Amino acid sequence: MQIIDGNAIAESIITELTAHVSGFTKQKPVVAFIRVGEDPASVSYVRKKQKTAERIGIESRLHLLPEDVSKEALFEQIDVLNADTNVNGILVQAPLPAHIDETETFNRVTPEKDVDGFNTLNIGKLCQEDPSGFVACTPAGIVELIGRSNIETEGRHVVVVGRSQIVGKPAALLMMRKGLPGNATVTVCHSRTKDLPSITRKADILIAAIGRANFVTGDMVKEGVAVIDVGINRLADSSKKNGYRLVGDVEFSSVAEKASHITPVPGGVGPMTVAMLMQNTVRAFQAARHE
Ligand code: GUN
Repeated sequence: MQIIDGNAIAESIITELTAHVSGFTKQKPVVAFIRVGEDPASVSYVRKKQKTAERIGIESRLHLLPEDVSKEALFEQIDVLNADTNVNGILVQAPLPAHIDETETFNRVTPEKDVDGFNTLNIGKLCQEDPSGFVACTPAGIVELIGRSNIETEGRHVVVVGRSQIVGKPAALLMMRKGLPGNATVTVCHSRTKDLPSITRKADILIAAIGRANFVTGDMVKEGVAVIDVGINRLADSSKKNGYRLVGDVEFSSVAEKASHITPVPGGVGPMTVAMLMQNTVRAFQAARHE
């Protein structure tokens, strides 16, 4: 059984990107973050993304807006960044407060700067297998982990648990696309699926993106399955300094006993999401500069 080291794989991508960015002598890529409110997970994710950008030589800017910001004020901020030719990538950190529609917000970001890959045009390009679009960072990171871990996908059965716009749906599209890693037979399960364990047990590769702590247990998988755990759930734990511990959507101990490969939480998919964001930002910069 191999534990897939997402930190190490992300580090090698970051090293490649750092070398690449050092070759840009006139200008450096710039990514702008918009964070609304003080959601603790969002604070921590944006901080991590900014630190990684800094290491690579990507300039980052942070725009903080209050929890009760109006949709108009948020969109105005996005418009300013859309128009700013020095800004290559724009990321509006989710979740947004309930009074602001996330899809509408993601669509406000100009497609050329949509390094999150969340707007309609980029999702359409993913469906059409047009490589000029940006692919959402978490699903892109999953594919990169699978590819760099030499997990075969061609003709194999990938079961995706979760149908979110951000992870489940694009991950399914990537796994079924023509090419590698891809060419898989894909089943997507979700909260309304009947007898979910009978489907997950058929998976050669299982992608768990449900958002429920320890949801997938050892009895739900077959021997030799490769497991990608996308969940990042905070469980209260008074023995920890910050009062919580992170667990995935997969019960690691029981599933690891049967798996050929498994990603840990933390240290699996999470760091890959950040690395893919950096890769998208560098691509956006190059496209804007025609480099
Ligand atoms: N919230 C959780 N994951 C993500 C992500 O990949 N991008 C953005 N913008 N918000 C998120």
